[in-house]
Amino acid sequence: KSIQIALDGPAAAGKSTIAKIVAEQLGYIYIDTGAMYRAITLKALNEGINLSDNEAAGELLAKTAIDLQPSENGQLVFLDQQNVTEAIRSQEVTGSVSEMAAHESVRLQMVKLQQQLAEGRGVVMDGRDIGTDVLPKAELKVFMSASVEERARRRFEENKKRNIHTPLEELQGEIAKRDQMDSEREVSPLRQADDAIYLDTTSLTIREAAAEILRLAGE
Ligand code: C5P
Repeated sequence: KSIQIALDGPAAAGKSTIAKIVAEQLGYIYIDTGAMYRAITLKALNEGINLSDNEAAGELLAKTAIDLQPSENGQLVFLDQQNVTEAIRSQEVTGSVSEMAAHESVRLQMVKLQQQLAEGRGVVMDGRDIGTDVLPKAELKVFMSASVEERARRRFEENKKRNIHTPLEELQGEIAKRDQMDSEREVSPLRQADDAIYLDTTSLTIREAAAEILRLAGE
């Protein structure tokens, strides 16, 4: 029987890397909800929308198409039919996404869309509010974290492969700031669901963390 797996946690905890592996092993779809918040943030930046305006943000999203498509090189992200998979990882988007994601007008629409994408299928979904809001009935909920130093180090290594060379200290500052904004916002703040299992990955490899989640999923 297919189940729903909710994977939440702070920035750069390795959620998407691990979610991808788990989904592949189980033959489930993988949904990166952070990519969806990043896509609408990219559009807001491109269109010069005031990021602090809740109503404008909601109106923008209402006339926007965000699609996720699996491919051999991982998940592709489309914004109004345009491939923005790389563009949504820019420092500019990363620096603004938490402000955009704090709007109720944005979250209401995103949660609905994410629930539709997951409906009736085996899914691994990663984000901040999956266990608490998007898939409250998920059979397995995992809240993944690691020390901020370790998370910054991992992001640094990942960036290197993509030819991005932001200094380590800067990454650590950016990650800490994003965690703070995500945890302190009024609407669906980042927090562990009551029935989620906490997984500290500071001293785990990607393979070990994925194996642990597969074990919890009963594989
Ligand atoms: O997962 P990722 O780091 O790409 O997410 C980018 C940002 O999107 C987060 O820092 C957070 O502000 C927002 N987000 C969210 N809820 C989710 C997923 C992401 O608010 N479910």
